Amino acid sequence: MVVTHTYDGRLSEYSTGPPCGAQCLPFCYLGMMALMKPRDDHQNFWEGRLAADWTESGVGYRALGRPFNTWVYKVRREVFLQQAGTLGLGPDHRVLDVGSGTGVYLRCWKQLGVGEVIGSDLTEAAVTRLREHELGTDVVQMDITEPAGPWPAASFDAASCIDVLFHITDDDAYIAAIDHLATLVRPGGYLVFSENFLRRPPDYSAHQVSRTEEWITSVLGRAGFEIERKVPMLVLMNALVDAPAVVRKAWGGALRAVTLTPPTGWLAGAALYPLERQLVRRLNTSPTTELMICRRTR
Ligand SMILES: C[S@@+](CC[C@H](N)C(=O)[O-])C[C@H]1O[C@@H](n2cnc3c(N)ncnc32)[C@H](O)[C@@H]1O
Repeated sequence: MVVTHTYDGRLSEYSTGPPCGAQCLPFCYLGMMALMKPRDDHQNFWEGRLAADWTESGVGYRALGRPFNTWVYKVRREVFLQQAGTLGLGPDHRVLDVGSGTGVYLRCWKQLGVGEVIGSDLTEAAVTRLREHELGTDVVQMDITEPAGPWPAASFDAASCIDVLFHITDDDAYIAAIDHLATLVRPGGYLVFSENFLRRPPDYSAHQVSRTEEWITSVLGRAGFEIERKVPMLVLMNALVDAPAVVRKAWGGALRAVTLTPPTGWLAGAALYPLERQLVRRLNTSPTTELMICRRTR
């Protein structure tokens, strides 16, 4: 366990620290304070984004447009169904999806035959639409970084939290979110979530933080989660956040160029989709988002 400072300058035994060491503490502090978003700002960001676009591009990689994102979601869904489908959850089980967005993973859990599926989101924009579209599904408005929800501890056999955690830009709030997920899942139950699991130094931006695999796994362990497995969720159809800078920039530029218009975005998605399906099945790790399954041990 590394004891060093986090990006807001506090001491933390979770942090792997910045690549520059403690000498840069005042600069890190100022830089990160500028990037960190107050909670209201975070909520407003998602309210605005989902109110304007409650589709695959609203919850996906917006700059790449809806047609491309529709293909990307096909891959994400397949990986989720394949992995969550191995957990043996069925009609007698109860699952909570956190940060449901447009409800993709609510529908996946239902497709897997789970008896009770409950949705949740930070935003009124998503919750209102989900209640209209997912009839018969309970949807709760909650912030997973706050002691959350109307349920007693250990209420769920599993929780899913897909493409949500890396949008929590404050490290303490992230730790709180994992703790709350651990409280909601019963001992022996599962957490299914996606993350970027960097093997390079962490990357902070205004609405997204890619954290290191080491830091994330230490937070999970502290909360009582044991890692069962991690698989690629995507490999090429996303920002390659864990690739060398030159590859990251070149691939990001190429994706933006081919998705400049809806027809080329659709064609690029259709062309990459068969390759991406093979890559997520065959590779063990990925330079972008991966899906992790953990089990609550205590
Ligand atoms: C990138 S979208 C992903 C949506 C969905 N899980 C998916 O993968 O399609 C992130 C979602 O998480 C929600 N969200 C962000 N921060 C949250 C928080 N602290 N608690 C609960 N939901 C949050 C947003 O409102 C948004 O719907």
